[in-house]
Amino acid sequence: MQILRTVAELRTRVRGWKADGRQVGVVPTMGALHEGHLSLVRAAKRGCDRVIVTIFVNPMQFNNPEDLAKYPRAEDTDAALLAAEGVDLIFAPAPEEVYPQGFASRVIVSGVSAPLEGAMRPDHFEGVATVVAKLFGMTQADRAYFGQKDWQQLQVVRRMVTDLNIAVEVVGCETVREADGLALSSRNLRLDPLARAQAPGLYSILSRAAQALRGGAAVGTTLAGAVADLGQAGFDRVEYVELRDAATLDPITAPGTRPARLLAAVWIGGVRLIDNIPV
Ligand code: PAF
Repeated sequence: MQILRTVAELRTRVRGWKADGRQVGVVPTMGALHEGHLSLVRAAKRGCDRVIVTIFVNPMQFNNPEDLAKYPRAEDTDAALLAAEGVDLIFAPAPEEVYPQGFASRVIVSGVSAPLEGAMRPDHFEGVATVVAKLFGMTQADRAYFGQKDWQQLQVVRRMVTDLNIAVEVVGCETVREADGLALSSRNLRLDPLARAQAPGLYSILSRAAQALRGGAAVGTTLAGAVADLGQAGFDRVEYVELRDAATLDPITAPGTRPARLLAAVWIGGVRLIDNIPV
């Protein structure tokens, strides 16, 4: 497994693979890898002849410089995990390689980027879409693997790929959960023991609400009930619990007519958690 830092080296390597008729998969990451990322790598290994994992903590998608500085970096551990999975190549560029002097372009995916995470973290999806478009251009991958845990991100990427005719197949992979239901996230490490014990309540409360909605319960009452349950379960703050169209993220008032997703963002013990499930 090689670790490459420049687009020129990456292009040469990928050109060779493509000349041999190999299908190339990419798993874009910001590093600090956990089982959730490794499940994407395994899906890419099953679906493609060659697998690239990109590790790049993208400054453009952070609203707060402190969050960017605090973001965990663990390249040596990540590289060992990826080598054990049989990854062919890590692409880990420096910020100047991705955003060289004079960089002046932005990818804005309107509509699907606006609500929920987009409302809470202004410009976040602009940063995500821009870097993902660049990573697709750099890697020339045939398939790209993203986790469903970041459901809105996945829809933003799908919309961008369709709108910009990018020749990549976007594969959304199931959220990996702890045995108690907590969705895997690098943020889970920051939960203190009490918050860690309470955090699985997010998934169980969402699951209960989703079941009620599937059974025909009124949307407004069910969502308000879920917010109240989260408060009682020890969550400090609920940013949103929303039922949305699964692809456009438009609000839904009558489930059952089109694929829907229940999405939530909450705070517990100073840590922000997100999760989502189908309805
Ligand atoms: O989900 C992430 O880790 C990031 O948003 C991504 C897709 C790697 C873009 O920086």
